[in-house]
Amino acid sequence: MVINESKTLPFQIEDSIDTDESIRLKYRYLDLRRTEMKHNIVARSKTFKSIRNIMNKLDILEIDTPTLIKSTPEGAKDFLVPSRKSPGSFYALPQSPQMYKQLFMMSGFPNYYQIAKCYRDEDSRKDRQPEFTQLDLEFSNGTPQLVKKHIETIVQHIFDEAFDLKIDLPFKTMTYKEAMTLYGTDKPDLRIKETIKDISEIFANTEINFVEEIINNGGSVLSLHSEINYSRKDIDILDESIKSLGSNGLGWFKILDNEVSGPLAKLLLPEEKDEIIKFGNGILVFQAGDIYEVGKYMDVLRRDLFVNKTEDITSFVWVEDFPYFEVENDVLQPSHHPFTAPKDTSNFKQNPNESIALHYDLVLNGVELGSGSQRINNPDLQKLVLEKWGLSNEDIENRFGWFIEALSYGTPQHAGFAIGIDRLVAEILKQPSIRDVIPFPKTQSGMDPLTDAPSTINEIDLVEYNLRYVTDEQ
Ligand code: AMO
Repeated sequence: MVINESKTLPFQIEDSIDTDESIRLKYRYLDLRRTEMKHNIVARSKTFKSIRNIMNKLDILEIDTPTLIKSTPEGAKDFLVPSRKSPGSFYALPQSPQMYKQLFMMSGFPNYYQIAKCYRDEDSRKDRQPEFTQLDLEFSNGTPQLVKKHIETIVQHIFDEAFDLKIDLPFKTMTYKEAMTLYGTDKPDLRIKETIKDISEIFANTEINFVEEIINNGGSVLSLHSEINYSRKDIDILDESIKSLGSNGLGWFKILDNEVSGPLAKLLLPEEKDEIIKFGNGILVFQAGDIYEVGKYMDVLRRDLFVNKTEDITSFVWVEDFPYFEVENDVLQPSHHPFTAPKDTSNFKQNPNESIALHYDLVLNGVELGSGSQRINNPDLQKLVLEKWGLSNEDIENRFGWFIEALSYGTPQHAGFAIGIDRLVAEILKQPSIRDVIPFPKTQSGMDPLTDAPSTINEIDLVEYNLRYVTDEQ
C-alpha cells in the first residue's frame, strides 16, 4: 500500500553508510530513519525517562532556569543574543545554570535538578558541541561525599533502567596528582591496567644529550612498555600521533632476547641497557620533560599502545584534589569554575596558585562524564577568589556584584554536580562522537546544514537591533 510518495532519496537509508556527515546532517530527518540512529535517539529518550524516575524517587526538585541571562563563566566564550528593546545590549546564553542553581540554595530549596541546555562557543570535537545537555544538580547542606553518593546512585540507576547494564558501587577515587603521574591525564582510562613508569633513574649518568639536559632541568623520563613486537611502520604512526599534539617525537627502544635496538640504542651505557632489558621483549616508549607537559603524550601513547584492552568493560573513577587554578593557553583559569570552594581557605589566601579545589570529576572510560564542587557560601571569599583570578574590582562588580550580594544573606553550605548526558549516552552506546546521539547536532564548524544556521540577517532587522556589519577595512 502506498502511504505517500517520496522524491528520490539523497542517500540510501541503510545501516552502514559512508555518506558524508554534512549530507547526513542536511537531511537529518532521513538519517534518523536509519535503524542505528533511531536506536541512539530512543536510548537518549530512555535516559531522560530514567533520570526523571530516579529523581522522583530521591525526591529531588525539577526546577528550570532562564536561558537569556547575563553570563556564567565555565571557561568558554558566551553565545550572545542582541536585545531589540535595549539596543546595543546583549544577553548571554548560559554556559551552564551554575549561578541560578546556587540561587535556589540561597532561597532555601533543599535540592534541585534540571535537564539543562548549555551553550559554549568553543571548538567542536567528538565529545563537544556548542549546544549540549546536562543533568544538573545541587544540594543544600551538601558535601562532596553526599553529592558523590547521589551521583553514583543516579548513574547506576540510568545504566540499569535505560540500558539494562549493571555497574558496581562505589566508584574508585584518585587524586589529580595520582592521575597525572600514573596516566598522564586527569581523565584516566582505567580499562587499561598499564601505568606510566618514571625511568629517570636509569638515565642518571646518561650520554643521550637531550635526556641529560631535561633531567638536569628537573624533568623526568616517562615510559610505557608493551610486549608487542612493533614494526617500524607502527612506530612511525605512534610518532606521528604525538607529534601532531606538539611532542618533539617518540623515544623508543626495542627489546628482543637481551638485545636493545632503536635509534638511541648505540648511545646507551651498559648499565642502562641492562635496566632496559629487564622490561622484557617488546617495546619501551618514552617521553622526557616536565611530567605535566609530556603527560598528555604519554596518555595518547597509552591509549594507542593498549587500545585492544578497552573492549566491553565499564570503568568509572572519581578524580579529586585538583589545583584551584591552572594555566590554559597562557591564561590563568580556575580548574573548575570560580564558585568552587578551596579545600583550605587560609592556604588559599596565602598561596592561591598552590591551592587545591574542592572539585571532583567523574571519568568513564577515559571520558570526563561530569564535574562538580563544593561551593563558596561566603561573599568575602567569593570576592577574594575573583580577585586572585585576576579580575579588577570594577569587573567583579559589573559581572558578579549581583551574585556576591545574593550570597550575603545567609547562604547555606551547598554542593553540586553536572553530568554530560550526550557523553553518557555516546559512551554507553560506543558511538564515535556525541553527534551520533544528538538528534540535530552542529557540524565541526558549528553550522546546522539542515536549516543553514547561523545566517546573516536582513537590513531591516539590523536597524531594529541597532547593529551593522563592518568590513575589516573600516
Ligand atoms: P563542566 O563545565 O565540567 O561543569 O560541565 C559538566 C559536564 O558537561 C559536559 N560538557 C559538555 N558536553 C558536550 N559538549 C560540551 N561543549 C560540553 N562541555 C561540558 C561534560 C562535563 O563533564 N556548572 C558546572 C557543574 C557544577 O559544578 O555543578 C559545569 O558545567 O560531560
